[in-house]
Amino acid sequence: MSIWKRKSIDLLLAEASDSEKGLKRTLTAWTLVALGIGAIIGAGLFVRTAAAAANSAGPSVTIGFIVAAIGCALAGLCYAELSSSIPIAGSAYTYTYATMGEFLAWIIGWDLILEYAVGAATVGIAWSEYLNNLLVNVLHTSPIPYEWSHSPFQTSADGVHGLINLPALFIVGALSLLLIKGTQESAFVNSLIVVVKVAIVVLIIVIGWQFINPVNHTPYIPEATTFVDKQGISHDFGGFWGIISAAATVFFAFIGFDAVSTAAQETKNPKKDMPIGILGSLAICTVLYVLFGHVLTGVANVDFFRNEGGEASVAAAINNFMPGYKWLGSFVTVAILAGFSSVILVMLLGQSRVFYSMGNDGLLPKAFSELHPKYKTPYKANLIILLIVGLFAAFVPGDVVGDMTSIGTLFAFILVCISVIVLRRTNPEMKREFKTPFVPVLPMIGALVCFVMILGLGWLNWVRLFVWMAVGVVIYFAYSKKHSKLNNE
Ligand code: ALA
Repeated sequence: MSIWKRKSIDLLLAEASDSEKGLKRTLTAWTLVALGIGAIIGAGLFVRTAAAAANSAGPSVTIGFIVAAIGCALAGLCYAELSSSIPIAGSAYTYTYATMGEFLAWIIGWDLILEYAVGAATVGIAWSEYLNNLLVNVLHTSPIPYEWSHSPFQTSADGVHGLINLPALFIVGALSLLLIKGTQESAFVNSLIVVVKVAIVVLIIVIGWQFINPVNHTPYIPEATTFVDKQGISHDFGGFWGIISAAATVFFAFIGFDAVSTAAQETKNPKKDMPIGILGSLAICTVLYVLFGHVLTGVANVDFFRNEGGEASVAAAINNFMPGYKWLGSFVTVAILAGFSSVILVMLLGQSRVFYSMGNDGLLPKAFSELHPKYKTPYKANLIILLIVGLFAAFVPGDVVGDMTSIGTLFAFILVCISVIVLRRTNPEMKREFKTPFVPVLPMIGALVCFVMILGLGWLNWVRLFVWMAVGVVIYFAYSKKHSKLNNE
């Protein structure tokens, strides 16, 4: 029994074509781009952008977007090579199993829970903020009381303590049930939402441009200082590290293009469609984000986002600083509630497919890979995920889960970049429909950019990542190693 045992590529491909067991192939290149944008534009743009401006970089959050996009594009090219040659559900987890052996595959599978499950919780919490905005500013009723819409670690300006975030719990529950019914229907609903989501981002950029106050953009890169937030956590603000730490925070806004690769096994022509899906959705979003960040930080200043504009920040900025455009604030609120739902859906989908693969391999109990007899979805995995996501959504603040998602995903990206280099050496003959250019230089730079962003997230997040991974290692040696199919043939 070896913890470094690798799955052979042939075995992986044979498993994928085993259509009795396999998932239904229904997705095409454009449904993938839609799935990508559906997963990408969400809480990162509509909540984390303002947080990054407030805590880290002011207007230069736009430069942070560019740094994050560079890291994502490089890792994205690596994802595209792997997903076009190993078109199997499970994403980075599966790639690592083939390249670096079981133990590291487990590590990455465990780490991906941070990306998908904790990420879904983050967006659920953002949904809850905008729901309250809907109630107060659009429907003119009372909000859901603070204690029922915030985690126990949050306190309002007038001293009310949070207890549980019920709206966040509600939305992840509802969407988990929708997913159990099947991805084809969910992908259709998703395509509709994507159109609306891109439309509101473009509207905000075009209309908001006239409301940019040059004073808010001066200086564009604030001088380097330290900012202490309401929870007493200090952040590097301004200067180089301010930009890097903003990059790591808004990196959240790009997460999701890689979720596309988890749907490989449900794609009609994965070798051609995967690279289009991944890189296409990434390119469109980068342009929109930089423009959006520029407008948002021009319309309202850093102080606003540190105080009254801290929640539902985009709608708050429109309502306060764009007179005559209250309708836009209302439209954004309604549309983004639907938009967040599509993000949560894709993240839950990604998580269930990773668990499905891990269950198939014996690293997790068999229940994780059991398909529903009628809907052909891994319904038991979906229910367990609901439990995990629900706990995070209900009891942890959005800032904490947001940064945990960023750090977990950055770590996964680093391993994906390394996998490409390793696989070129160990399996040079393997058929690669899409080849990452300039290997090994490009993947190395990709890994480096992601690593620098991890540095920007600060020690508290490093500790969280470390503790999370340590728990994973314990589970591996206590359970997964003994039950792994590959290790116990
Ligand atoms: N990129 C996704 C979002 O911003 C996760 O919500």
